[in-house]
Amino acid sequence: MADITVLGAGGFGVALSVMLERFAHRVTLWSAFSEEIEAIKRDGEHKKLLPGVPVPDSIQLTDDISCVAGKELVIFAVPSFAVRQVAQKAVSYLDENTIAANVAKGLERGTLKRLSQVLAEELPRNKVVVLSGPSHAEEVARGIPTTIVCASDDRESAQKVQDIIMNKTLRIYVNDDLIGVELGAALKNVIALAAGINDGLGLGDNSKAALMTRGITEIARLGCALGSQRETFAGLSGIGDLIVTCTSMHSRNRRAGILIGEGNTAAQAIEKVGMTVEGYISCKCAYDLSHKAGIEMPIIDQMYEVLYNDKKARDAIRDLMERPKRHESEMVWLLSR
Ligand SMILES: NC(=O)c1ccc[n+]([C@@H]2O[C@H](COP(=O)([O-])OP(=O)(O)OC[C@H]3O[C@@H](n4cnc5c(N)ncnc54)[C@H](O)[C@@H]3O)[C@@H](O)[C@H]2O)c1
Repeated sequence: MADITVLGAGGFGVALSVMLERFAHRVTLWSAFSEEIEAIKRDGEHKKLLPGVPVPDSIQLTDDISCVAGKELVIFAVPSFAVRQVAQKAVSYLDENTIAANVAKGLERGTLKRLSQVLAEELPRNKVVVLSGPSHAEEVARGIPTTIVCASDDRESAQKVQDIIMNKTLRIYVNDDLIGVELGAALKNVIALAAGINDGLGLGDNSKAALMTRGITEIARLGCALGSQRETFAGLSGIGDLIVTCTSMHSRNRRAGILIGEGNTAAQAIEKVGMTVEGYISCKCAYDLSHKAGIEMPIIDQMYEVLYNDKKARDAIRDLMERPKRHESEMVWLLSR
């Protein structure tokens, strides 16, 4: 049994807390917003973000960030854009032996940093791990068998988190390729938006399979150029997470994509989904990263045009289909400058 704080009381923070409590951990769930904490206390669940999942009284609910003190593990379950800010709030209360685990899937806008880099900068005394894989909150909360990876530059910390968290509903594999795991996690959301557009346009299974397969190929291409291993993208945080995100209605990114395919602008689609659509920001980050590294990412380029320059989705699909001929395993992928 471990003492664990989960930072962020959205869908995934609540799901993780409920799952960890079920396996006898002492869990504290923190939100920056006192109204959110009060609402969960009052309703016994998070009515908006994880309805129908009871939050037991044994989970301590608080908006006081000093709740990170003295914990074995602190899990950052806030949206990507809030990770740095929450780490800055927590740092003065954290013990140096506490492991910081990030579950947010994204890159930092502007700096293009991976979130483990952000945490390492803000929490220089703490070991950092990343948990990632196909793990919808709705299913984790209900104990549906789920598999994820725990990645870190520090194998011992990853194994420790595996020891603490793994249970009969959540199987965890250790992974040493932090860069690959984080890029897979962040960029699959862009492909999920594309898969949603495919569905919203009324296209088919062939076209969706094409987006997913060529999508993971270009994510891997960028990843390899940035120092990760190709096989990571065939794993849980690569193709695994891509499959779940591109095929499930639990995915906000896919739902936003469907709305765009049906004729909404990106802004309208995000407003209608009503929650964070992380693929929108990740698309801009991936676009900037790939152009900086000189790596060809045709689906990302087209998604950037659709999301940021109001290109018609049908025109984007046409332009993808009419690209110059290629060999499937072609290694000539440097952008011509
Ligand atoms: N939902 C899932 O199934 C799932 C699964 C795996 C990973 N993740 C990742 O976990 C992260 C959180 O996802 P989620 O689904 O819980 O998101 P969410 O939109 O449900 O979470 C919103 C919550 O984040 C917190 N928050 C929002 N803005 C904040 C701020 N400025 N400062 C501090 N806290 C803030 C609040 O508690 C809010 O309720 C995301 O990066 C997501 O990609 C989600």
